[in-house]
Amino acid sequence: MCGIVGYIGTKKASPILINGLLRLEYRGYDSAGISTIEKEGLSMMKDKGRVKNLYHLEGIDNLEGTIGIAHTRWATHGKPAKENSHPHMDNSKTFSVVHNGIIENYHELRKFLTEHGYTFYSQTDTEVVPNLIHYYYNQDTNHDEMKFLRATKNACNDLKGSFALEIICKDYPDHMIVIRKDSPLVIGKGEGENYICSDIPAILSFTREFYLLEDFEFVVLARDDAKFYDKDLNPINKKTQTIEWNASSAEKDGYEDYMLKEIYEQPTAIRETIGAKLNEGTKCEFEELNYSKDYLKGLNKIYLVACGTAMHAGLAGKNILERLCKIPTEVDIASEFRYRNPIIDDKTLCIFISQSGETADTIAALKLSREKGAKTLAITNVIGSSITREADNSIYTHAGPEIAVASTKAYTSQVILLAILGIYFAETLEISENEVAALKQDMATLPSKIEETLKCAKTVKEFGKRIYQEKDVFFLGRGIDETVARESALKLKEISYIHADSYPAGELKHGPIALIENDITVISIMTDSKLVEKTVSNIQEVITRGAKTLVVTNQKVDDKMFDTVIHIPETNPFIAPILSVIPLQLLSYYISKEKGLDVDKPRNLAKSVTVE
Ligand code: M6R
Repeated sequence: MCGIVGYIGTKKASPILINGLLRLEYRGYDSAGISTIEKEGLSMMKDKGRVKNLYHLEGIDNLEGTIGIAHTRWATHGKPAKENSHPHMDNSKTFSVVHNGIIENYHELRKFLTEHGYTFYSQTDTEVVPNLIHYYYNQDTNHDEMKFLRATKNACNDLKGSFALEIICKDYPDHMIVIRKDSPLVIGKGEGENYICSDIPAILSFTREFYLLEDFEFVVLARDDAKFYDKDLNPINKKTQTIEWNASSAEKDGYEDYMLKEIYEQPTAIRETIGAKLNEGTKCEFEELNYSKDYLKGLNKIYLVACGTAMHAGLAGKNILERLCKIPTEVDIASEFRYRNPIIDDKTLCIFISQSGETADTIAALKLSREKGAKTLAITNVIGSSITREADNSIYTHAGPEIAVASTKAYTSQVILLAILGIYFAETLEISENEVAALKQDMATLPSKIEETLKCAKTVKEFGKRIYQEKDVFFLGRGIDETVARESALKLKEISYIHADSYPAGELKHGPIALIENDITVISIMTDSKLVEKTVSNIQEVITRGAKTLVVTNQKVDDKMFDTVIHIPETNPFIAPILSVIPLQLLSYYISKEKGLDVDKPRNLAKSVTVE
């Protein structure tokens, strides 16, 4: 998805902007550009392709400006091409704009502006923005210090859709205006300088003090000042918040790829997410939540709504909330949820899971649930992300920044947080005392068991070398293991481009077994003592048909039956996915490496999907 960076200060802006864009590369993009205010007016350098191509553009080294905006584009309206790259200027080259999001009424606005003499040079929705600002700027006969802001506000009032905008104006060489609506944007406060970005990791090395913006707040930035205004341009006060992530947690720390680093960060991510919530002898507390016993008892349903990997964490959450808390729980894919008219009322609790907190479908599903009267709870990894501003309450995974497109530590942190939430609900409801006590004990030893599990890397790598050229791989499991099969299949396809499918093992003979032929790879997960025998007999059926098999298990199995067996430590079934997924995260990683692919930035994918 698109990324935004901005700088206003006393240093040369262009290297800071390009450096920021490089840190946003993981989001996925197809073109990049920057614009600065120079003595002679606005500069603009952009092209399709990688950010580092900007270094080769003629004149880039001559830029001296200390104010600038920058963008990586992920094409939505118009193909990846220089003319469609951001920044975009108005016809008179007075304003330069970068934009994340989608202007839904851009056809209408383009028609209006064309009728008023404006010409368009790109196929983008964004190009209407600088021209519309220019239109209002020209209409305004007052030449005071608010003119730039008034024109921006009038233009934004006409925009439908989502937008995070950075705007510079040649007539205001010491200012920049930024605004967001349904698209991420934060401001990092430095000493005599301000940084702007769509994603905190891009500027973490410069500051940890951030202003988090609400929808439709306008900010006029100067070098040592930031003035905030509401949608009617009334001044508002805003305080900075400190982000605890440090810059090195957003770097590779000696690992070859972010994904590998993030897989190995899972013991820490789990420790941090558990934090001080599970003290022996005391009830689990969430400062952010005050659900009463009566409220929880009165619930008719919990919905867990999310996309992709976060939805798979929701499947593990369903198991916990139904079994431990006895509350009917449904898991929904966010992009489907909002169009299927779900049955929701004030006795429904809707929980939204999103690593980034910026996934458009998840946010839209949240808004719908709120409108229908449900209480909403966000589970996210990013403080101040859009979802936290929409939800009634938010709780956080403490996984640190996840940079690789393939989600790993976010998934396991979401599962543990859902388990902690389950404990909190069960303790509030005063039920399942024994199960809760056992789960708490098993959680305490989980980080060291993750460390133990990670030791399987060598065996996994060897198996990966055997199968990296395959076209199809099948993942099987029963019960909670089936949810891990789904997550593992997603991981394999997204970074290795191998077709991977997952099935409940018992479902095999109802169709998919027709696809099993000699030498095909079947991977199964077996962590449930009550189901292991049944899964083994399903695997026997594929072995008979010539499949090669990899088994991930914490049970006693006859190792000789299978090609490779990865033994993992035993733990509580509620949190077993946190261990069983690890060998399969590693398998996807090693297969992708073996194929020479870009593990962290797989083709066609973006880290956070901020459009529908
Ligand atoms: O930021 P979110 O958790 O809302 O993202 C949801 C999905 O887009 C994400 O989990 C996606 O499926 C990952 N690339 C999977 O590895």
